[in-house]
Amino acid sequence: MDFQNTEQRVKELRNLLNQYGYEYYVLDKPSVPDAEYDRIMQELLKWEETYPQLRTEDSPTQRVGGAVLDMFEKVQHRVPMLSLGNAFNEQDLRDFDRRIRQAVGDKISYVCELKIDGLAVSLRYEEGLFVQGATRGDGTIGEDITNNLKTIKSMPLRLTENVSIEVRGEAFMPKRSFEMLNEARKERGEELFANPRNAAAGSLRQLDPKIAAARRLDVFLYGIGNPEAIGADSHSGGLDYLDQLGFKTNKERRRCATIDDVLEFIQGWTEKRPQLPYEIDGIVIKVDSLDQQAELGTTAKSPRWAIAYKFPAEEVITTLLDIELSVGRTGVITPTAILEPVKVAGTTVQRASLHNEDLIREKDIKIGDKVVIKKAGDIIPEVVNVLADQRTGEEVDFYMPTHCPECESELVRLDGEVALRCINPKCPAQIREGLIHFVSRDAMNIEGLGEKVISQLFAEKLISDVADIYKLTREQLMELERMGEKSVSNLLQAIEASKDNSLEKLLFGLGIRLVGAKAAKTLAQQFETMERLASTSKEELIAINEIGDKMADSIVSFFEQEEAKELIQELVAAGVNMDYKGTKPVSAEESDSIFAGKTVVLTGKLEQLKRNEAKEKIEALGGNVAGSVSKKTHLVVAGADAGSKLTKAQELGIEVWDEERLIAELNK
Ligand code: IVH
Repeated sequence: MDFQNTEQRVKELRNLLNQYGYEYYVLDKPSVPDAEYDRIMQELLKWEETYPQLRTEDSPTQRVGGAVLDMFEKVQHRVPMLSLGNAFNEQDLRDFDRRIRQAVGDKISYVCELKIDGLAVSLRYEEGLFVQGATRGDGTIGEDITNNLKTIKSMPLRLTENVSIEVRGEAFMPKRSFEMLNEARKERGEELFANPRNAAAGSLRQLDPKIAAARRLDVFLYGIGNPEAIGADSHSGGLDYLDQLGFKTNKERRRCATIDDVLEFIQGWTEKRPQLPYEIDGIVIKVDSLDQQAELGTTAKSPRWAIAYKFPAEEVITTLLDIELSVGRTGVITPTAILEPVKVAGTTVQRASLHNEDLIREKDIKIGDKVVIKKAGDIIPEVVNVLADQRTGEEVDFYMPTHCPECESELVRLDGEVALRCINPKCPAQIREGLIHFVSRDAMNIEGLGEKVISQLFAEKLISDVADIYKLTREQLMELERMGEKSVSNLLQAIEASKDNSLEKLLFGLGIRLVGAKAAKTLAQQFETMERLASTSKEELIAINEIGDKMADSIVSFFEQEEAKELIQELVAAGVNMDYKGTKPVSAEESDSIFAGKTVVLTGKLEQLKRNEAKEKIEALGGNVAGSVSKKTHLVVAGADAGSKLTKAQELGIEVWDEERLIAELNK
């Protein structure tokens, strides 16, 4: 065959393989025998071998082509990957429904989807070609697992249209693949995976794509990162569009007009769940209209327009062997139940937090009791109750100690708190926990520096405060247990990279009392540099919306401490960034716009502006966009068919604009 004919033939073969693959893996309706598929694949491989110039990135032969990596690159998500709020019962769902109706009115419909138990992934296509796939990570930064994702046969390498789109979905391991994998591992004497989710996560985090390829993973896509870009006006429309592009979406979705229909859908799947060929852990309920989604907006962590109903957790009985005490970062003493190991929802459980003494009294827990265990949210083990009627009389009462189990200083109970605390600032347990917090994901996110490594470094006295982390040397790290050349290099690189984190990560990592991740972000945005924040006053702090009296006190006294000042100096000397790197919302004072300091509510259908576009523009001018009308609202922008919010605005005598006026003012 001459080159031109070969080129033609190669195209034909590729099209056939794509079509057969799509029928087999996406539609689950094979149209040719496996042997035929294999024969065509062999022929294509042969031609690509002979004429490497004919090999393309999206060729079906390229699914396992990727190189073995040293580590995964980090990927910044263009649109953050949020998670979902949870509902555990009918009441939670009715509350969700009420909140939605209050905010956007009664004209709503929901889409119910199965909540696939795998791991969230984001896939980016440019002009129809798959270019990058990433894990969720902390929601802002994930890991580049492009080559592993390519091995998932149901995931298209090229779309049916040349669109640029970012899609999100759940990669998972079907039950059958999971069983086969574990059987093989058992035969080889390897450790078994606890459940399909862990197996899928473990597979996608393999540095060698050949291993991922052998694991038979699958992926369902459930959302679009940039839905505005494709012109859909509903979530369900977006999913239909994903089907059209060649993606695998889950067909068991249903549009529901009322929350009762949602409950019925949930009931149905609670019963049918065991028959599915993959694991689900709940049902996701989403508001269908994208305009309404935008109006509802998101909190820092999750959208207000969706919720995840979680199936009730599996419960098992075991024996409580002992109660152990641990000292947390803030000195709180936490009792932990040591249990006779027992399997719950796929993993073996041998510890469960008992939180505090009050809870132990409330549940009447004694050492030696038979207890019912479940995993809250299917992750964290919890003692549900005690089987008091099975007591033998041998059970022993438990009392909290009067002194810290780690440093032996006297414990105190602060006003109004149930927890007992060790208030010795030099308590080694608190220092160690503070270090663990500093490197954790929402703080400085230093991968490879987990609890175990930190504990070792601390025990060996190689680190005693967070600045010491930046002084660690290759030689010191090589001394640690289970640390090879490569993991040390990766770790040093991760430590180095953390120096560039934006200020909020460092602020949260410092563990200032009452300052959580969200407050840290607000502080970073408002003050922009550590220096400015460190010299602020209580008054200035409480003037900020989200900062209360107690938190302000805590921040001021943190920065007054000599130790804190020294620590920050040391971090500066180590090259740790002290500046906020994100975008800053314009403050009302800085803006001379008419929107500055005003609370605006958008309602009805906007014809020219997308709702989130309008929101962004108003915020950029120092305004604040709220979801519902109240006495605090300064201005309501009413588009077509505005309903109850407009009425309320009129009742309250609030100024109302139409879209034209809004656009005119935005353009001023
Ligand atoms: S929507 C912005 N739909 O559940 C919200 N999530 O806790 C995006 N999940 O991280 C999530 N099936 O990994 C959505 N049909 C589905 C899902 C689903 C599984 C996972 C996803 C997410 C987690 C939420």
